[in-house]
Amino acid sequence: MKSEDIKNQIVREVLSEKQIDEKIAEIAKQIDKDYEGQDLLLVGVLNGAVMVMADLARHLTKNIEMDWMAASSYGHGTTSSGVVRILKDLDTDIEDRNVLIVEDILDTGLTLHWLKNNLLSRNPKSVKIFTLLRKPDSLQMDVKADYVGFDIPNEFVIGYGLDYAQKYRNLRSIATLHPDVYSQKS
Ligand code: IMP
Repeated sequence: MKSEDIKNQIVREVLSEKQIDEKIAEIAKQIDKDYEGQDLLLVGVLNGAVMVMADLARHLTKNIEMDWMAASSYGHGTTSSGVVRILKDLDTDIEDRNVLIVEDILDTGLTLHWLKNNLLSRNPKSVKIFTLLRKPDSLQMDVKADYVGFDIPNEFVIGYGLDYAQKYRNLRSIATLHPDVYSQKS
């Protein structure tokens, strides 16, 4: 690949920066309403949810807290390995707290299914799920997302926190990559 510019490695923009921002603002309004008068802890799923967590949190007008968890299910490939491990646990005790998991994408549902059950076992007041993207065609587990940004086709996307081999997270939009990228060694 001659150019280092991410834009030259993209085939198609799936969602623009503006579309993403408008949708997050719209959902944030709903979340403000739904949790009116109640405490709220946002739990971002590292690393992919970094961008969406930052933007969602800043669109909320209510006072919230933020914490992070890291669970692994993907390696360097583009399909799920089926394995979920905690790489980083919460710093917060969530007993009797309202927890909203903030995730970048709901693909097979394996990660969120596991994560939600794990958090529920800690006696929170409630656990809900926000996901910016959902791939309905590839959902294998019974996971209900309470807030969904966009349903997208079952293809691999990058940008806005989503990676391929740890790269492309810093693209502001969400896009599909040129097939050449997958055949190259980094
Ligand atoms: P699931 O457990 O199959 O639902 O996968 C969830 C995780 O897989 C997400 O948090 C992402 O890290 C990763 N993932 C799934 N689909 C994509 C994609 O299209 N692009 C980048 N990462 C993805």
